[in-house]
Amino acid sequence: MKGVLLAGGTGSRLRPITHTGPKQLVPVANKPVIQYAIEDLREAGISEIGVVLGNKGREAIQSFLGDGSDFGVDITYIVQGRPLGLAHAVGCAESFVDGDDFVVYLGDNMLKRGIVDVVDGFRAGEFDAGIALQEVDNPTQFGIADVDEDGRVTRLIEKPDDPPSNLALIGIYVFTPRIFDAIEAIKPSWRGELEITDAIQHLLDDGGAIDSQVVEGWWKDTGKPEDVLEANRLVLEGLEATRAGSIDADAKVEGRVDLAESSQIESGAVVRGPVSIAENTTVETGTYVGPYTAIGANSTIRNAHIENSVVVGETEITTSGRIIDSLIGRGAAIGSAEGKLPEGRRLVVGENSQLEL
Ligand code: G1P
Repeated sequence: MKGVLLAGGTGSRLRPITHTGPKQLVPVANKPVIQYAIEDLREAGISEIGVVLGNKGREAIQSFLGDGSDFGVDITYIVQGRPLGLAHAVGCAESFVDGDDFVVYLGDNMLKRGIVDVVDGFRAGEFDAGIALQEVDNPTQFGIADVDEDGRVTRLIEKPDDPPSNLALIGIYVFTPRIFDAIEAIKPSWRGELEITDAIQHLLDDGGAIDSQVVEGWWKDTGKPEDVLEANRLVLEGLEATRAGSIDADAKVEGRVDLAESSQIESGAVVRGPVSIAENTTVETGTYVGPYTAIGANSTIRNAHIENSVVVGETEITTSGRIIDSLIGRGAAIGSAEGKLPEGRRLVVGENSQLEL
């Protein structure tokens, strides 16, 4: 079985972070989202992975994943070019798949429990496809499946106005090569995209058997800033405290703190886990880093108060203001205007930014 990891999309809901990089490289607990998908595929015994790239952030994804050897997998890159929908992206992988069964994993989705159960469920029967589902509160915003008592799918519909159930497709699919004929047969949806949901419905209409697995443990589509923060919180919840870096004698470090070897927490700083601090980062005196915060590499935090936030990295935060529930992009500098006249906040704010002051 092969893996097809979809890493296209514009990341419009994560702007401005995604102006300079693809959404799949946004870090959750200091690890890019896409790496979680690679690890889930590998855990399911899948090491031949085709990564389908869009136009955005192609080089960045390739330079991060390389040939896959750093992650114990073998990666082939496939360029989708125009963003014509998930089904189109899957169709681009046809020659890579080369007649095998394969798992499709949306590269901005994360699952606590991985994909082993979904793959095993598909393998246990004679199915033409398998889908992973989870109950959601807002079924109009997802692909939705109707399922009978035996878990057999009876109907699929993309972002329904009148949802037949609240079981959402969570971006993990298992396919046989039959899906490629279905992709050929479907027409673009109202949003102008070839929907993978419609392709699976076509397979069903054609007499195909579709397995479904309702997955346990959390699942997150990290498309929006609040989802990234929530995923970060969920991953940090299970964090191991390594504390490999240096902690000054009168720094106060409480709870589970993952501190990279080259990083330090200076005296007079307070860090209350769960917190992850990546390489070459200094938490200086007068700083409070509160629960559910991940601070990326090569950053300095001085005199600041930050919690429940993701700091991507190469960042300097020296404001004395409180930073909460924030997603702070690479290379950002957040200082303080105190003592300067006229008083007020001095901002350089990117297009489509969201600030709450
Ligand atoms: C896509 C799929 C949808 C699925 C969702 C999961 O939606 O079209 O069926 O439920 O991913 O994250 P999109 O993110 O393109 O709106």
